[in-house]
Amino acid sequence: MAILSIRLFGDSILRQQTEPVESVDAEVQKLIVDMIETMHNAEGIGLAAPQVGRLERLFVVDVSGLKEDMPEDVRDNLPEQPMVFINPEITWESEEEEEFEEGCLSIPDIREPVFRPESVQITYQDKNMQKHSEMVDGILSRVIQHEYDHLEGILFTDHISAFRRTILKRKLMEIARGNTCADYPVQPV
Ligand code: NI
Repeated sequence: MAILSIRLFGDSILRQQTEPVESVDAEVQKLIVDMIETMHNAEGIGLAAPQVGRLERLFVVDVSGLKEDMPEDVRDNLPEQPMVFINPEITWESEEEEEFEEGCLSIPDIREPVFRPESVQITYQDKNMQKHSEMVDGILSRVIQHEYDHLEGILFTDHISAFRRTILKRKLMEIARGNTCADYPVQPV
């Protein structure tokens, strides 16, 4: 196991398209284990492959630390964490949107409210390449949509208003220069 360096805002790999995973060979298996360890070390609730400099179409999620904030029915129905989403596709989004404050391990110290569909349907393969199709809502839906965006080269700052982005511009430029006080390993651009 290894803790990987997290790529920062401004790194071109965060803007690239990812490639489907054909099989979970030893290399992909190691990537998954390392990504989960890296996410836990940074106290994150999700991490996508491009954030550790890889273009496999996969992300990991662990929302178990937020259990206390979940409604009882959500908590009781929460799938086993951490979860691995390989080759995910969002196949349906609710019309109802919800605003929620987001952050990102690649954009340390910035949190902004983002509107997203309340619930989505996602198909994906797990670490055994078993296919799943699930309807998710609440915090899981939020994290999944954020991580899914990473696989498409999209960052949460793309969803905020031009006005807010202007206000954050200087801070984002500093992050791109590697000036952050993240307390986990990062790779300067
Ligand atoms: Ni992120």
